[in-house]
Amino acid sequence: MGKSMQDQYQRKIEYLRISITDRCNLRCQYCMPAEGVQWIPHDSILTFEEILRVMQISTSLGFKRFRITGGEPLVRAGVLEFLQKASQIPGVEDLMITTNGLLLPEMAGDLKKAGVSRVNISLDTFHPEKFKEITRGGDVKKVIEGIHRSLEVGLHPVKLNVVVVRDLNTHELPRFMELARDYPLHVRFIELMPIGVSSDKRNEFVSIDEMKERLGLEGLKPTHDIRGGGPAEYITSDGFKGSIGFISALSKHFCNTCNRVRLTPDGKLRLCLHSAKELDFRSLLRSNKSDEEVKQALAEAIWHKPAEHHMNDEAWQGQRIMSQIGG
Ligand code: GTP
Ligand code: 5AD
Ligand code: SF4
Repeated sequence: MGKSMQDQYQRKIEYLRISITDRCNLRCQYCMPAEGVQWIPHDSILTFEEILRVMQISTSLGFKRFRITGGEPLVRAGVLEFLQKASQIPGVEDLMITTNGLLLPEMAGDLKKAGVSRVNISLDTFHPEKFKEITRGGDVKKVIEGIHRSLEVGLHPVKLNVVVVRDLNTHELPRFMELARDYPLHVRFIELMPIGVSSDKRNEFVSIDEMKERLGLEGLKPTHDIRGGGPAEYITSDGFKGSIGFISALSKHFCNTCNRVRLTPDGKLRLCLHSAKELDFRSLLRSNKSDEEVKQALAEAIWHKPAEHHMNDEAWQGQRIMSQIGG
């Protein structure tokens, strides 16, 4: 396996987030428009063979962690077989999934068998009606069952993603904190990012500082013991089985320690979640370039990873929506 590679700002890049589909069985208000989106045509989507090739080439550049995202990754046909092959690639140390959890009740056991190390599950509210409203039709019972199943089969550590939206779920933060106290779950509160349909939702934005104030965090202390490669900062206490995490995408961005790049379902290498700069990897993979040539192109692109995002710039309008990037 190759040594981890660095970009021109000496950041070690070793985490690849791969969105395997733009399709989703939900349409969360902050992610997709009510009318849905035009799906990317099938022949533009990377095949699993192409994705496995990218993974194998990236391990030779020192990539170790791979997170499979969507849309909803578990809706893509053949995903279990793909994961099984992916987990066996030498150099893949961590194979993880970010999911909305709806399919976990029936799939968690198979994911574990396929070699998936752990799952991050989105859950923004406990209320069935509110969940239906936020996701435009989802059944929260399934997600909660999926969380229990994931714990049972040992997809540890199980993390929850809570996107905090003003007046939608702000009053539920204390309840999420109780969940982390009573279960071995790592509940991460995420600042709403102005991407796609959320680019005009600045009034709904709640900063991490405000979340902390609302929670009141007496007795909780920072911990670095939770396995992960992402930007969350965690706190916990002796009375907690799990922990609380904060993902401050906007208020205190973490660009200077960024360790990741992304591959979109249509094969664009996205160097930063918030930069429109994409490398057309699909064309590269579908030309007759050798693995070595693809590897060189990947290394070259990573070297030019942008220093930081400019999420407050006007340039934001008209970007891809979140489900097409994978978060
Ligand atoms: P682990 O820490 O390894 O468990 O994973 P993670 O937190 O990186 O993965 P997950 O897919 O659960 O992402 C949680 C949230 O963090 C999502 O809302 C992502 O959009 C956000 N996120 C992940 N990476 C970045 C990033 O580079 N920049 C920003 N702004 N947000 C990110
Ligand atoms: N801001 C912050 N997080 C978002 N997600 C989707 N859209 C946004 C947004 N605009 C989250 C999802 C999922 C993760 C991949 O990204 O809830 O947990
Ligand atoms: Fe689907 Fe996730 Fe977007 Fe919700 S946030 S619509 S679950 S991709």
